[in-house]
Amino acid sequence: MKGIIFTEFLELVEEKFGLELLDEVLDMSEDEGIYTSVGSYDHKNLVRLIINLSKKTEIDATTLQRVFGQTVFKNLLASLPNQASLNHSSTTFQFIQHVERYIHVEVKKLYPDAQPPEFHFIHTTEAELVFDYKSARCMSHVCLGLIEGCAEYHGDTISIEMIPQNDEQSVVRFNLKVES
Ligand code: HEM
Repeated sequence: MKGIIFTEFLELVEEKFGLELLDEVLDMSEDEGIYTSVGSYDHKNLVRLIINLSKKTEIDATTLQRVFGQTVFKNLLASLPNQASLNHSSTTFQFIQHVERYIHVEVKKLYPDAQPPEFHFIHTTEAELVFDYKSARCMSHVCLGLIEGCAEYHGDTISIEMIPQNDEQSVVRFNLKVES
């Protein structure tokens, strides 16, 4: 997984919980905490950090993933090399489709070892977007947070329903509706 995900995560932990707690979580995870945004690392390290942060803070791991997604959205957006491509998407629904058709495609071209999730679109109208999130990394709650961050950025109010399609939650159906 790309280092930017790790550097953003560690920054958020430090900001929300302080350097001392971050150090404790790194120790518990037997992780030296040395990540660069352009490097690539085993995504299991991130899972371990989230689990140990959850143990330390007594906040469940799904909530931690969600908050991470919400806060990382803007920084991921700012990291896009081609900002002009964003002109095509002015709503949350357009943006999510742009992520699948362009942004994550570019990520894979730039970093052949990256494995962003796949979105399979099932139903698309102006008021409703239904799609399946698919990833062996099972980070659907990061996805939830990213969608919330995306909606906030676009000034949209959206209700989000998640329906897991299997036990390990590698496929999760997202049912999004624009609230008037
Ligand atoms: C609504 C917006 C977005 C959603 C819902 C989304 C979803 C996700 C999720 C859930 C992951 C975690 C890995 C997984 O579950 O398999 C991920 C990874 C990633 N995303 Fe996105 N993303 C969004 C926007 C962006 C943007 C704007 C960028 C800008 C470059 C981006 C670049 C990446 C990168 C670099 C990774 C790590 C991939 C890897 O190293 O394997 N994403 N994305």
